[in-house]
Amino acid sequence: MRRHNSSSRVAIIGPGRLGQALGRLLAASRVPIAWIVARDLAAARPAARFIGRAKPLRLSDHELMKASIFLLTTTDSALVEVARQLAKQGSGKSPWRGKVVLHTCGSLPSTVLRPLKLRGAAIGSLHPYQTVPSPQAGVRNLRGCFWGIEGDRRAQQVSRRWVKLFKGVAFPIRPKGKTLYHLSAFLVSPTLVTLMEQSMRLLKKAGVPARIARPMLRQFVVETAKNFSELGALRALTGPAVRGDWATIGRHLAALKRSAPDFVPVYQTLLQAMLRLAGQKAPRRLGEGTR
Ligand SMILES: NC(=O)c1ccc[n+]([C@@H]2O[C@H](COP(=O)([O-])OP(=O)(O)OC[C@H]3O[C@@H](n4cnc5c(N)ncnc54)[C@H](OP(=O)(O)O)[C@@H]3O)[C@@H](O)[C@H]2O)c1
Repeated sequence: MRRHNSSSRVAIIGPGRLGQALGRLLAASRVPIAWIVARDLAAARPAARFIGRAKPLRLSDHELMKASIFLLTTTDSALVEVARQLAKQGSGKSPWRGKVVLHTCGSLPSTVLRPLKLRGAAIGSLHPYQTVPSPQAGVRNLRGCFWGIEGDRRAQQVSRRWVKLFKGVAFPIRPKGKTLYHLSAFLVSPTLVTLMEQSMRLLKKAGVPARIARPMLRQFVVETAKNFSELGALRALTGPAVRGDWATIGRHLAALKRSAPDFVPVYQTLLQAMLRLAGQKAPRRLGEGTR
């Protein structure tokens, strides 16, 4: 396995779910994760233990300038301020020359790190198209996943090298397209969890035991995703809207109004999108009833 020299020591800023997971994966690939930076050292200590041998530090600590690669895994909203604070470090005209700074936010371009570029750093972003609900989950599911990459040439080189270590797939993403790119992920992950939770409630009301409902939903959703990937949207689509079973849809809506009225507009909007996809038109009366 390739050894990384000590001149490419990495500081991770933001000891949350992604920061810890990436830190552990990189450390396991012998990338020297030397520092983990937090607002509160008490939060950095357990993260440092999870990663391996990283030293907990604060953002204002001058020791940080010994790092040559900075991985920012803070919340999206903290990035601009963290970049501004970091850029104050070092003296002279370009104290950040030779350093690489990366963030992992999917919706913001790497140019939010501009204060560091102005001080000489190469800036970039690498974003895993993956959901990381805990550091442990990230260690498992970030391997082999897809990564949107953009930024300065040297920053991209580091990102691509890391993605290769994770046996993942790196692809270029246009900075201007990042909001849409991130929206695409939002539409199929947190929303899916919300829909699945609503399905669980309906199953419970229908009398299906929870121990059955959870694995049953999992199997159903995994199969649906598999069909979408292998057959494409149109052939993967099943259900009453595609078959033209309008009476069934009418009964759904009536039951939803009684059981979960706040989901009626969600059902109606999704039904309209589904009909457009399937090239179907609901009968006039149902169309009126669903709006
Ligand atoms: N989790 C995912 O599924 C996922 C997937 C792809 C990309 N991402 C991206 O990865 C980044 C991190 O997400 P996450 O889910 O790992 O978030 P998270 O678990 O909430 O962690 C964010 C971390 O940033 C720290 N932080 C906030 N402001 C800071 C500051 N000013 N200085 C230093 N540390 C600060 C927080 O510490 P405090 O305790 O001090 O608040 C926390 O440890 C985000 O940009 C997100 O868009 C996440």
